[in-house]
Amino acid sequence: MNSIPMSGPDLTSAERAAVMEVMETSQLSIGPKISAFENSFADYLGVGHAVGVNSGTSGLHLTMIAAGVRENALVITSPFSFIASANCILYERGIPIFVDVDPTTGNINPVLVAQAAHDLARGDDSAAYWLPPTVRNQKSVIINPESLVSSLRSLLPIHAFGQPADLDPLLETARAHNLSLVEDACEALGAEYKGRKAGTFGDASVFAFYPNKQMTTGEGGMVVTNRSDWNALFRSLRNQGRDIFDAWLNHTRLGYNYRLDELSAALGLAQMQRLDELLAKRERVAGWYNERLRDEELIEIPFIAPTTTRMSWFVYVVRIKPPASRDMVVHTLAAEGIPSRPYFTPIHLQPFYRDRFGYQRGDFPVTEYLGDVSLALPFSGIMTETQVDRVCERLRTIVNEAV
Ligand SMILES: Cc1ncc(COP(=O)(O)O)c(C=O)c1O
Repeated sequence: MNSIPMSGPDLTSAERAAVMEVMETSQLSIGPKISAFENSFADYLGVGHAVGVNSGTSGLHLTMIAAGVRENALVITSPFSFIASANCILYERGIPIFVDVDPTTGNINPVLVAQAAHDLARGDDSAAYWLPPTVRNQKSVIINPESLVSSLRSLLPIHAFGQPADLDPLLETARAHNLSLVEDACEALGAEYKGRKAGTFGDASVFAFYPNKQMTTGEGGMVVTNRSDWNALFRSLRNQGRDIFDAWLNHTRLGYNYRLDELSAALGLAQMQRLDELLAKRERVAGWYNERLRDEELIEIPFIAPTTTRMSWFVYVVRIKPPASRDMVVHTLAAEGIPSRPYFTPIHLQPFYRDRFGYQRGDFPVTEYLGDVSLALPFSGIMTETQVDRVCERLRTIVNEAV
């Protein structure tokens, strides 16, 4: 039997023609397509500025620089995410302060964020609780309240699986402690929180366009902001530190080559023109899954919070409940040509984070529970109902036979 792909881009002759059109010119980078793509993206979201970059990860890195992250700066974020949302803090030698997530959505728990920000800003003994184990022992970081007050820089919530984090209380915490807020919206293009698009709430937000995303540019990302100072900084940082009036070999600051090329931008622009259709197709596939799995006792379908007025389906993630075993399901499905993935593996349990920060199992119980039971099923906008049928039929049988 044919195997079912885990994900796949939704491309038409319009995208192919758009890329070919750039191929006919000699301008493969820094040309009209990136500007057109950025304008179209900013218009879609209703934000002041959109800056194209060559990945979501590089976009996140730039936001951490703009947020003033430097050695030992603290950023509150979620351990239930793709690793780039924590790594971007480390690129600037900052320290991620993980707080656990809401068990229903898997998004960062705003009550814990408020508590962490409060304790860290006070800088007394209560602050130590939130620091990673290896940092807790570095007294120089925690005993000087003054340094801690100035070390807490930013909140970095993730809109996991395409569902917005609970932004209102997070914004309140950011305001109360004078922190910036950066949305990792890499999985959430088109999602809405209380009727407003995710990615329009923070000082900056980052989107990603890897081929499994709602829309793709191959590799690519977009940083959006309403702040003109951050917009200018992002444009300089992605372009080797050149300021807008700098000559080609003048570099005002330490920068990077994080530019998005014209071929990718042309592909992105063509996908933007189909974005409503792309999102609707994914919603339809998610609906097929929901219909077939909602009454299963050992399979929990995704929970959509009342604040999520529009879910943007990036992945379709179910929970496999005991006594069925998620890992057994992964292996059995794979043997039948049906891929599936544990999603996410908690960041604090990744080898590098255990080594550097001393994390262990037990540190973030909700995240770990979700990491143990969550299973991403094959998902894309081009999946057929027959494919969804086959995945669900096999999944149901495997889960129920295991009991
Ligand atoms: C939550 C989250 N953040 C960041 C990224 C990084 O994006 P990219 O792969 O474009 O670097 C991803 C990509 O999968 C993601 O899901």
